[in-house]
Amino acid sequence: MRILPVATIAGLALMTAACGGSDKPAAAPAASETADAAAPPAPAPVPAPAPEPVPATPPAEAAPAATTVSYGALTGDAAKGEKLFGQCKACHVAEAGKNRVGPSLYAVVGRKSGTVVGFNYSKANKESGVTWNEDVLFTYLEAPQAFMPGTRMAFGGLKAPQDRADVIAYLKTKA
Ligand code: HEC
Repeated sequence: MRILPVATIAGLALMTAACGGSDKPAAAPAASETADAAAPPAPAPVPAPAPEPVPATPPAEAAPAATTVSYGALTGDAAKGEKLFGQCKACHVAEAGKNRVGPSLYAVVGRKSGTVVGFNYSKANKESGVTWNEDVLFTYLEAPQAFMPGTRMAFGGLKAPQDRADVIAYLKTKA
């Protein structure tokens, strides 16, 4: 009770300023009118913050980085692999005993490298000491020259892990 609210004091002061001195009658009201006129429409519409870019679905299907996908995490599809094997057919067949530019790939899964009779392998391939099990093929077929420097297999590689798994599934049927 003893203390007047600040608003009241301010109001009194304003009234004094507005109604009081005849010295400068217009100044204060004019200022406050201007302020009042400006005030109501004032709050410029604050642009709504850009909505969070929430992905509709988690990017589960995003192209997996080749290095993080292990062969064991994939299931090969032999039918798809047969189609992909079309890329190998320029140089290989999967029938036993038939070498072309490349050696026969009959029963290649699990075979020691460089052992097809009658095929003239490069030193790199013959002496690699590699056994073509599924994991090794999976790595080799991504980038043959990187895996086996000096190989004569002039093939850039199958970059998609699933494609490699599919081709391996197909090769496994050829045994
Ligand atoms: C441009 C021809 C060419 C293409 C295309 C090609 N290869 Fe080869 N491949 C070769 C040659 C040549 C060799 C032998 C390499 C050497 O002796 O250095 C070879 C070797 C291999 C070997 C090692 C065989 C062994 O007995 O040691 C495998 C496995 C193989 N290729 C798989 C594939 C697969 C699977 C594809 C298709 C995805 C493919 N290649 C595409 C030419 C090719």
